Amino acid sequence: MDIGDLKKRIFIDLTKVKDLAELEQFRIKYLGRKGEITFVLKSLKDLSIAKRKKLGTEANQFKKEIESKIENLKSQLIKQETKTKEREKKIDITAPGIRIVHGHLHPLTHIMRKIEDIFQSMGFRIIEGPDIETEYYNFDALNIPQDHPARDAWDTFWLKTKPQRLLLRTHTSPMQVRFMEKNNPPFRIIVPGRVFRYESTDASHFYNFYQLEGLMVDTHISIANFKAVVEEFLKKLFGEEIETRMRPSYYPFVEPGFDIEMKYLSSDWLEIMGAGMVHPNVFKSVGYVPGNWQGFAFGIGIDRIAMLKYKINDIRLLYSSDLHFLNQF
Ligand code: PHE
Repeated sequence: MDIGDLKKRIFIDLTKVKDLAELEQFRIKYLGRKGEITFVLKSLKDLSIAKRKKLGTEANQFKKEIESKIENLKSQLIKQETKTKEREKKIDITAPGIRIVHGHLHPLTHIMRKIEDIFQSMGFRIIEGPDIETEYYNFDALNIPQDHPARDAWDTFWLKTKPQRLLLRTHTSPMQVRFMEKNNPPFRIIVPGRVFRYESTDASHFYNFYQLEGLMVDTHISIANFKAVVEEFLKKLFGEEIETRMRPSYYPFVEPGFDIEMKYLSSDWLEIMGAGMVHPNVFKSVGYVPGNWQGFAFGIGIDRIAMLKYKINDIRLLYSSDLHFLNQF
C-alpha cells in the first residue's frame, strides 16, 4: 500500500476548506472512525512485520501532521469568524443601557457638609485644626489643669514624645483657644474635625469620631442666643419632627454648662452635644479681658447626628468600609 496518493489528495482537499463546518467534515472524512487515514492504520495489522513497520511509522507521522494542520487551520478560522461577526454586529439602540456606578460621599462627609452649610448660612466661619495636639491646648488652656479630675472624662491617646507631651485631640475644643489667641471678637466659627478617645468600643462608642465645635463671642451673648442658633440648626437639618431639651452638665471650660438631647421621630432621647457659656478662665488664657466678652461654645457629635438621621444603630458601621452598608447612601 502506498500512502503517497492519499497524502496528495488530502492536502489538496484541505486547501479547499473555507470554514469551521467544512473543516469538521474534512476531519471526519479522513480521521473519523470510518475515515480513510483511520482505515489505513487499522489495516496495518494484516501486513507483514517489515511492511507494517515502515508503513506504520509513515502513516502515524502523517496522521500527526494532518492533525496539527487541522488545529492550526481551526484557530485561524475561529479568529476570522469572530472578526466577521464583530463587524456584522449591529448596535441595538433599543437595548437597555448599562448603569454606570458613580462613587459617592461617605454618610459622615455628607452630613458634615450639610451641617457646615447650615452654620455658614447663619454667618459662621469654618476653621480647621490639627489632630495632634499639645496638652496645653487640649487641656490646660481649657481650664483643665494637670491632675484635674475632669481630665478622666477624656480618655486620651498619648504619643511617645519627649520632652513635650503630645496627644491625639480628644475634642475639637482646643481650636477655641487657638482661634481666640489669634483673633479678636466679635466672631462666630465652627470647627469640624476628627477626635480620638482611648475607650473600648461598642454600638455607640468608637476610638475615633467626628465633632463640630461652635464658638460665638461678642459683647452681649446669652444662652438665649445659643438656644436660637441650635434650634435653628436642628430644624434645618431634621425638619420640624424633633424635640430638644437642655440638661445641666459640667465642662471645665464653660459656666454654666449643659448637654443637649434630642428626640427624632420615634427615637429615644439621645445626647448630641455638650455646650455652655465660655468660662472666664478660657478668656484669660487667650489674653482677653473676661469682663469685656461673653460667648457660647458647643461640641456636636457628628456620628450621633448621622446615626439619628440615617437610622444607623451601630457607630462602628461608619468606620467599617463595608460596601453593603456604604452603598445604601
Ligand atoms: N468638648 C466637649 C466634649 O467633647 C464638648 C463641649 C464643647 C462642651 C464645647 C462644652 C462646650 O465632650
